[in-house]
Amino acid sequence: MLFLMKRLFIYFTFLTILVISCKKLTPKLPEDHQILEGPIKGLTAAEQDQFLKGDIGFGAVFTPQNGLGPIFVANSCASCHAGDGKGHPFTTLTRFGQTDSTGNQFVQLGGPQLQNRAIPGYSPEIIPSGATSSKILPPANTGLGYLDAVSDQDLLLMSDPNDADADGISGVPNWVNVPAYCQFRANAISMNGKHMARFGKKGAAYDLIQQTANAYNQDMGINSTYESIDTYRKQPVEPEVSNTTLQNVVFYLKTLKAPVQRNANDADVIAGKQIFMSTGCDKCHRAELKTGSSPIKVLSNITFHPYTDLLLHDMGPALDDNYTEGSAKTSEWKTPALWGLGLSKKSQGGSYFLMHDGRAHSIDEAIQLHGGEALQIRLAYGNLSMTERDQLLKFLESL
Ligand code: HEC
Ligand code: HEC
Repeated sequence: MLFLMKRLFIYFTFLTILVISCKKLTPKLPEDHQILEGPIKGLTAAEQDQFLKGDIGFGAVFTPQNGLGPIFVANSCASCHAGDGKGHPFTTLTRFGQTDSTGNQFVQLGGPQLQNRAIPGYSPEIIPSGATSSKILPPANTGLGYLDAVSDQDLLLMSDPNDADADGISGVPNWVNVPAYCQFRANAISMNGKHMARFGKKGAAYDLIQQTANAYNQDMGINSTYESIDTYRKQPVEPEVSNTTLQNVVFYLKTLKAPVQRNANDADVIAGKQIFMSTGCDKCHRAELKTGSSPIKVLSNITFHPYTDLLLHDMGPALDDNYTEGSAKTSEWKTPALWGLGLSKKSQGGSYFLMHDGRAHSIDEAIQLHGGEALQIRLAYGNLSMTERDQLLKFLESL
């Protein structure tokens, strides 16, 4: 009996040591504010279920057997949008063939997107002679549901096409023809049959269904009932992804949480935010927007902080790459959201690749590239003291 108790004692001591050391060995999960992945808090059980299904769809890898190609750029959404963060120069897309609002002149020759890879037996595309092209880096995919739920009315209130307030900054929506499979937002605003789009670097995709159906079709050669024209055969083919899967992926995008600011109470960060506002960065990178009503309750009537106005701005000749979409000019870009900026290095291999093509290797470099409508604000940035500049950069890193 004593022997057995002794054995048991040794056994339990061993077990306790094991449990303690395991706790030490198991790496701590990263905290919520340190990563971009994960759903918005407060989803219903059914919504969480659809989020998970969408997450699986987002990560699904396509092969020639289940529809990849014949010509394509990558084989899964997640390969370009790793951890839902910003992409790397290795994962850029190249688009070509449109220089004004009359549309893409090279659709028959493979435009608008270059499919630079092909499955065995097929030839990848090359940029046709005479077409100008642009390289764009994948943006982060976080908080898109909030941006999607901002009303057209609110966007129009921020736009100032004729610069009525004479601050040098206009801001216009990208007016596009919306494909029949998209559903208009409540109280959608139209002009000559065109509607206000908001996704993509040129803001040319109306909603997340269009963005997603196009990504399947153009990036992976996966056709759906929404975008059924095969990029290689240039004719409608059988769907290779179901509407249910595509809708689940859209739901996943809509319910990915917004990035959480870090060190918000740090004195320098607080001072930096004030400098951001007083320098005029907020004229385009709007600190606060609100959603309208949404069938997804957690997205309904919410105030949030994306640092974008979702509008197009002429950024001057240095950022004009002679390619465009919708009604945007070649030098116009949609103001990118700045939330998650400080976390973007994580998905970019440890260093920054900012602006549409990743040409800026630091936040300071990105600001120095601002021209056109942003010229006065960039000059104001140049006039800040070293301390003020450091505080502004600390604030931007905290986003
Ligand atoms: C080859 C790389 C690549 C693949 C694969 C890819 N994307 Fe993208 N994604 C990009 C790039 C580059 C952009 C910017 C495109 C633009 O400006 O129109 C983008 C833009 C987006 C946006 C717009 C975000 C915003 O802020 O406006 C969404 C949403 C998106 N992708 C979702 C997806 C989904 C869903 C898939 C899979 C079905 C996918 N992407 C596949 C590279 C990729
Ligand atoms: C006139 C509108 C406008 C103003 C004012 C403005 N920006 Fe921007 N900003 C943009 C646009 C548009 C881009 C994207 C340009 C591109 O991709 O080539 C951008 C890009 C950026 C980027 C890179 C983001 C990324 O994800 O690559 C940062 C950082 C940034 N701005 C910070 C600032 C700061 C700080 C200020 C104030 C000193 C400021 N901006 C003022 C419109 C503006």
